[in-house]
Amino acid sequence: MRSVVHIHDLSFAPFISETTIQTRIQELASQLDADYIGKDPLFLAVLNGAFMFAADLFKHLKCQPELSFVKVSSYVGTKSSGRVDELIGLQTSLKNRHVIVIEDILDTGVTMDKIFTLLESEQPASLSICSMLLKPNSYKGKHQPKYIGFEIEDQFVVGYGLDYKEHGRELPAVYQLIK
Ligand code: IMP
Ligand code: MG
Repeated sequence: MRSVVHIHDLSFAPFISETTIQTRIQELASQLDADYIGKDPLFLAVLNGAFMFAADLFKHLKCQPELSFVKVSSYVGTKSSGRVDELIGLQTSLKNRHVIVIEDILDTGVTMDKIFTLLESEQPASLSICSMLLKPNSYKGKHQPKYIGFEIEDQFVVGYGLDYKEHGRELPAVYQLIK
């Protein structure tokens, strides 16, 4: 694992090693397999952050999973309410499907709440959350995530898909901001 990394104006120290992440992913995959085998599950990985986690998780899944990548985009709608969120990239119907949303990190939960609202309207059979990281002290989301890699303190982290101003996603481990 690299020691301190510098991204833009900030420095980050090693936090969760590649080995620790990979071991935990195997455990998560076993848990998902036990819950979804025979259910034709559909995993939706949220871009950009979840790309690496989704790829590594998928190498271990035995429940014959389907995968789509989605992205939440906001645009200014024509209604007076202003901002409208939409999910782009969804090609399959979710109706009566068992859907698992794969995220990199749950912080306040605002993003996940938006995603849930958009997905619920498609009437899936079930909807659950699988996130590599969770900040339990700041999470106020309406839906309790069932599959979590690691719970962390409220601190800024990068690596393993997570970015600081679009850089740092390529790091195979997670790094924390040095204050
Ligand atoms: P939310 O507050 O749960 O809506 O978090 C939304 C998004 O903020 C996540 O999907 C990440 O893209 C980003 N984010 C939250 N915490 C961190 C962090 O520690 N590092 C990098 N990105 C973060
Ligand atoms: Mg994200």
